[in-house]
Amino acid sequence: MLSLLLPAMLAIQAMAVMEVLVPEQPVVALHGRDATLNCSFSHANSFNLSDLSVFWQLTDTKRSVHGYWGERDQLTDQAERFANRTSLFPAQLGLGNASLLLSRVVVADEGSYTCFVRVQDYDSASLLLQVAAPYSKPVVTLQTEANLRPGDEVALTCVAYGGYPEASVIWKDGGGRNLTDNITTSLVANEEGLFTMTSVLTVVLEPNSTYSCGLINPLLGDEGYAFVTITGQNIAFPPVALWVTVGLAVCLLVLLVALAAVCRRKIKESCEEARREAEEAKELEEEESKTAMTLLNS
Ligand SMILES: *[C@@H]1O[C@H](CO)[C@@H](O)[C@H](O)[C@H]1NC(C)=O
Ligand SMILES: *[C@@H]1O[C@H](CO)[C@@H](O)[C@H](O)[C@H]1NC(C)=O
Ligand SMILES: *[C@@H]1O[C@H](CO)[C@@H](O)[C@H](O)[C@H]1NC(C)=O
Ligand SMILES: *[C@@H]1O[C@H](CO)[C@@H](O)[C@H](O)[C@H]1NC(C)=O
Ligand SMILES: *[C@@H]1O[C@H](CO)[C@@H](O)[C@H](O)[C@H]1NC(C)=O
Ligand SMILES: *[C@@H]1O[C@H](CO)[C@@H](O)[C@H](O)[C@H]1NC(C)=O
Ligand SMILES: *[C@@H]1O[C@H](CO)[C@@H](O)[C@H](O)[C@H]1NC(C)=O
Repeated sequence: MLSLLLPAMLAIQAMAVMEVLVPEQPVVALHGRDATLNCSFSHANSFNLSDLSVFWQLTDTKRSVHGYWGERDQLTDQAERFANRTSLFPAQLGLGNASLLLSRVVVADEGSYTCFVRVQDYDSASLLLQVAAPYSKPVVTLQTEANLRPGDEVALTCVAYGGYPEASVIWKDGGGRNLTDNITTSLVANEEGLFTMTSVLTVVLEPNSTYSCGLINPLLGDEGYAFVTITGQNIAFPPVALWVTVGLAVCLLVLLVALAAVCRRKIKESCEEARREAEEAKELEEEESKTAMTLLNS
């Protein structure tokens, strides 16, 4: 008799028990977008909405995120930073869906949230919200310094901004080898909590070498990469040196032309002088011969 009754009694009790379910895996939300924090509850008997209470709160501080009872939202004790950013799905409540819609997610929203549901019985469960933001495409720059020569040490800087959370930076050479030495990476957060990542790789300069910088966001995966190629030309003729060379060449040409002009004038002058001297000498000669002639005549 008892062996028949007990399972039936347990079954009835299990039916009456409220069970709240939330995702076990962290919920990843994109910064600036809306996120749905799923929470469903099972309740065997159809219930009257006026008997339903739903509380969403921050697990750590117990601050209220969203409240609902008496068939309406109850937001008087809602934490200020959630004002106008939360709602339930009213049409879904009667179907056991107490999910929370959180609008315009920010980095500060990251954390654990507890969904608490009561009809007659009650239960609660917590989920983790993680915020992600994609980084800008990384940009690699070569420290600009004139007169780079093979064998010099140069710093390559890779910058990407506006992302979250911290990403891993992978530097590779042209052969795809992972360069791990001599990297310093720094992280600066803006007022929204989004990061600018700066990674500096120091390399010994070789002609025809390629370096790439790639970003991996732990929540979003690969986030693109950028590379620089240092060609032989870069090293022999960095732009500054090239212009200096061209400038010098032009100066030299102008100088040569000027010199040629001066020389020509000088040569002409000395020629004229020589002619004048020759004429003078001739005149003198003629005079002398005249004198001689007069002497002879007398
Ligand atoms: C929320 O629940 C719906 C329906 O069960 C499901 O399709 C969706 O993937 C869930 N979202 C998350 C973030 O768990
Ligand atoms: C709850 O309802 C919303 C709106 O229809 C839906 O997006 C969400 O996936 C539902 N969640 C569950 C757990 O069913
Ligand atoms: C729900 O509860 C209200 C107030 O207690 C009552 O007036 C109403 O008849 C109930 N509805 C159902 C379907 O039980
Ligand atoms: C929320 O919306 C109301 C009405 O639009 C507005 O008066 C209030 O300033 C808003 N609160 C916040 C924190 O944005
Ligand atoms: C590169 O090397 C570092 C340090 O050894 C390691 O943590 C990282 O996982 C490596 N990355 C790849 C893509 O091999
Ligand atoms: C790292 O830097 C040090 C000193 O700046 C240098 O001696 C060393 O060769 C560098 N290593 C690599 C792999 O570039
Ligand atoms: C660099 O590459 C260019 C073209 O690929 C090649 O002509 C040149 O010889 C290379 N220079 C060196 C130093 O390897």
